[in-house]
Amino acid sequence: MNIERFDDESALSAALATRVLQRIIARPDLVLGLPTGRTPLGLYRELRERSGNDRIGPSTSSGTPRAKSRGDWSRVRTFNLDEFAGLAPGDPNSYRAFMQAELFDHISIDPANIGFLNGAAPDLNAECRRYEDAIHAAGGIDLQILGIGANGHIGFNEPAEGLCANTHVAQLQQESRQANAQRFGGDWTRVPERALSMGMATILGAHDIVLIATGEEKRDAVTGLIEGLITTRLPASLLQVHPRVTLMLDREVWSGSRRTR
Ligand code: PGA
Repeated sequence: MNIERFDDESALSAALATRVLQRIIARPDLVLGLPTGRTPLGLYRELRERSGNDRIGPSTSSGTPRAKSRGDWSRVRTFNLDEFAGLAPGDPNSYRAFMQAELFDHISIDPANIGFLNGAAPDLNAECRRYEDAIHAAGGIDLQILGIGANGHIGFNEPAEGLCANTHVAQLQQESRQANAQRFGGDWTRVPERALSMGMATILGAHDIVLIATGEEKRDAVTGLIEGLITTRLPASLLQVHPRVTLMLDREVWSGSRRTR
């Protein structure tokens, strides 16, 4: 497991945006797995600023436009990790709406290339199978970016006795509903009880994985991921079996973990 340490969240986000844009330059039809949540906000801000449609790129000191800093997203394909059950893509509380506002509405991505779970599909199990098939049809995910829950969840793979391998309908734990309360007027009881989520096998099928973690509240989960045994009680620990995982951590996370110091 490769561990990269950053002084703060903005340095981490800038480095990850550079990595993503370099991958797109190397492979214009990159298949990118994306997370939602607080942690990737800086990444999406950087990507908007560097490859946004609605902003002229900054000029160099010589006055010439800065070359190569603007990503060409026209052939990039994306798959998001999860979506709330019961919420249609146009619902303002949906993760799809979050991604539109934070990234997709601002870049040159073809809407047909945006892979997303539909939380309002009439048959949620069929929707999960459709999504799994779509990922396979795209040739699998080249680069999967992940956040991590304070409880060690990945996507909505919550700590449990057992985990579903593939994309599935997940029951959310109260802690995860509380972590999402802000999107629902601060009232965690309004957060849906279920979500659709890639499974750990879907995630581990990605060629490369980058997990980002910022803030002291993620320290214990990241320490368990790095130093602990593999257990479904900490779904992130399953990443230990993947050969190409990079952890990008801010100081609040790495300063407390013995092996990451
Ligand atoms: P957060 O969520 O970025 O909002 O902390 C991460 C996660 O739950 O995976």
